[in-house]
Amino acid sequence: MGSGRVLMLLAALLSFTRSWSSSVYSTDPPTNNRPVIGIVAQETHFENLLPNGRSYIAASYVKTLESAGARVIPIRINLSNEEYVKIFSVINGILLPGGGVDLKTSEYARVSKIFYDLAIAANDRGDYFPIWGTCLGFEQLTVLTSGELLLTLTNTEDISLPLNFTESALNSKIFQKMPLPLYKSLATLPISANFHHWSLSMQNFTANEKLRKFYNVLSTNSDGILEFVSTMEAYEYPIYGVQWHPEKNPFEWRKTSDISHTAEAVDVAFYMARFFVSEARKSQHQYSEEVEIAYPLIYNYCPTYTGNISVFEQMYFF
Ligand SMILES: *[C@@H]1O[C@H](CO)[C@@H](O)[C@H](O)[C@H]1NC(C)=O
Ligand SMILES: *[C@@H]1O[C@H](CO)[C@@H](O)[C@H](O)[C@H]1NC(C)=O
Ligand SMILES: *[C@@H]1O[C@H](CO)[C@@H](O)[C@H](O)[C@H]1NC(C)=O
Ligand SMILES: *[C@@H]1O[C@H](CO)[C@@H](O)[C@H](O)[C@H]1NC(C)=O
Repeated sequence: MGSGRVLMLLAALLSFTRSWSSSVYSTDPPTNNRPVIGIVAQETHFENLLPNGRSYIAASYVKTLESAGARVIPIRINLSNEEYVKIFSVINGILLPGGGVDLKTSEYARVSKIFYDLAIAANDRGDYFPIWGTCLGFEQLTVLTSGELLLTLTNTEDISLPLNFTESALNSKIFQKMPLPLYKSLATLPISANFHHWSLSMQNFTANEKLRKFYNVLSTNSDGILEFVSTMEAYEYPIYGVQWHPEKNPFEWRKTSDISHTAEAVDVAFYMARFFVSEARKSQHQYSEEVEIAYPLIYNYCPTYTGNISVFEQMYFF
């Protein structure tokens, strides 16, 4: 065999092992390092804030996602279905924030349903798209998945609690990479900030087949009387819900509130944000410059100081 043929053989072998090894690595989706996440606005449900604007997003949600390396676009209410479909195709995840509007009749509910349905369909065809719901957003997810209002009143307004983790939490998508000392802090210290009147009881969760099959309960809490779901993640979809407020620990400071500002509490907030943004990095939708004109980033808006007249330090009004 001439040395030329040996070289050719070697080259063929090399290119074979290359393509073989690159196909091994390509089973992971490529990482999107320019993730853009939409936050759904809602009707201004505080009488005193109406002069500022008819809809809002609390700035703490924006800051938390930005801290984890994502950019945010506000998803304004009152747009047409077609516009939401366009927005969906250029963002990498959606966050349903807390608040106080109706889970069936509000624009927030309508917009959330549009994105939820689009996300389910996209994930089903291999187009990865994560959803995160906090507090009202968590409650909205339970309505979207079950088609019903299954919530019940609990005494959980402005109280911080340790999470009662379930057995599956340690190996869950959300918590499996959480450093163990932080996990232990979250399980033992009053870190999770609860600001809700309505909760999904374990009883109603367990009795509802749609919810039970869709979500894995990762933590529960109790108001002393009723055990309710405090953290859940979907088994088959990148859909996550927390009844508590990780974004408040680093960014909301109302003195009369029972919000923990310890180093552990702040670490939990950033861990959760980092987790969700890492999910958004798996989405391949591209936010382009043309899109930026139609659907501007939150950088184009100014937050308003509301720390003296609301539970939020700063809010964006639209
Ligand atoms: C949305 O539309 C409703 C009904 O037309 C209107 O009352 C409301 O002010 C609008 N809100 C915003 C934020 O545009
Ligand atoms: C279960 O859901 C119903 C609404 O369908 C609600 O009226 C009831 O209070 C809930 N019960 C518990 C224990 O959560
Ligand atoms: C954890 O669960 C136990 C048993 O249900 C309950 O008594 C306790 O109040 C819960 N702790 C918190 C912080 O919710
Ligand atoms: C709240 O703060 C703003 C900005 O400093 C100020 O203009 C406003 O008068 C204050 N409102 C109240 C009720 O203190």
